[in-house]
Amino acid sequence: MKNKSTKRIGIFGFGCVGQGLHDVLQDNPHLQVARICVRDREKLRALPSHSFIYNPQELLQDDSIDLFAELISNPKEALHIVKQTLEAGKTIVSANKKMISENLTELVALQQEFGGTLLYEAAVCGSIPILRTLEAYYSNEPLQEVSGILNGSSNFILSKLDSEGVSYNEALAQAQALGFAEADPTLDVGGYDALHKISLIAAHAFGAVIKPEQVLRCGIQHISKQDVALAQSLGARIRLVASAKLNKNNKLELQVLPTLVFPDSELYFVEAEFNGVQLQAKYAGNQFLKGRGAGSHPTGSAVWADVSAALDGYKYNYPKFRYNDEEQLRSVPLEEDDELKIYLRTTMPEFLPQLPWRELATFGSDAKVCQLVGTISRKDLLLYLPALKQTIAFIAQLPSNVSAEQFINASYTLLEEAA
Ligand code: HSE
Repeated sequence: MKNKSTKRIGIFGFGCVGQGLHDVLQDNPHLQVARICVRDREKLRALPSHSFIYNPQELLQDDSIDLFAELISNPKEALHIVKQTLEAGKTIVSANKKMISENLTELVALQQEFGGTLLYEAAVCGSIPILRTLEAYYSNEPLQEVSGILNGSSNFILSKLDSEGVSYNEALAQAQALGFAEADPTLDVGGYDALHKISLIAAHAFGAVIKPEQVLRCGIQHISKQDVALAQSLGARIRLVASAKLNKNNKLELQVLPTLVFPDSELYFVEAEFNGVQLQAKYAGNQFLKGRGAGSHPTGSAVWADVSAALDGYKYNYPKFRYNDEEQLRSVPLEEDDELKIYLRTTMPEFLPQLPWRELATFGSDAKVCQLVGTISRKDLLLYLPALKQTIAFIAQLPSNVSAEQFINASYTLLEEAA
């Protein structure tokens, strides 16, 4: 065994994840938190004020630091810190999924040019080692699908709506109080956070670099008790599912959508702030990873794992990236022509755009509420989604074997029970 000398860690940020890292590092005598850089001098913190510095440059220029951990929420500042570190050929770990997913190509190029290292396991699914699994274990084997529940806050909210009948706003406030939600919770409930995570997964699993506008994305903001009850009466639960699937045409189907999941899916049993990731590999078959997807210590644990790995010289290889002769990254084609079956409810039916449905059944509890089950091409849904969102619609994807008749019958049964 190698004799480990003490390594000095410089941390940017002391929010939920920064504190989590600080706590878990107390278990490791070889890793010393040398300095913590924060922005707000006035904020009350769990450590004495002499533990903190306030100028990021002071930390970045400190040559006694062996490794940096970037754990701030502002993506612009985070990018600045990470770029500066990589340009100096140094090592940094980050949990900022928005910043990394939106700048991945540049961050990979900087590592190649200057020899530095960036790891970011904590950015995807909290404590679940999904990136390391994709990188290290599935570096060669083709993957067919990686999908799952990637946002702890929205899963926490949906679980609360399922089991306790609390209101959406109460459940969101609890997710914020427990430190699960982003500083701007729209990122969680609007599906943006899951989009950033599935983009990173798609890069490691399929070599795809994704533009956010190419992905079908809906959040859970407009869910109602009516939607939850309807799903329950069909024997299902609503979960925010992000998926990247390579179909038989070798095109990638990408989406982040509330989805009806049934007990035949592992995702049905993912509760509270837990995340669950399903992998389908060509030869290994199906696998399922489940663990805490948000929270101070679970995310701090993922950062710790990255810190240790990076200090041992580990780097991501991006084994699925393919380059052309000019050494440019080859893009992976995205599917647009497949079709999706969706449930939609809106209280503004008068503004519903005329969509080119392939199949459609509408129903509704009164003149002000329109519900429908329809089949539509991905291309058309991508095109009309911004207009649909204006109608404050709740949209959920349905498995293809769930019929409109089942929905209509369940809806009438619920109406009768309520009468
Ligand atoms: N806000 C994120 C979530 C934190 O709820 O999943 C972990 O990435």
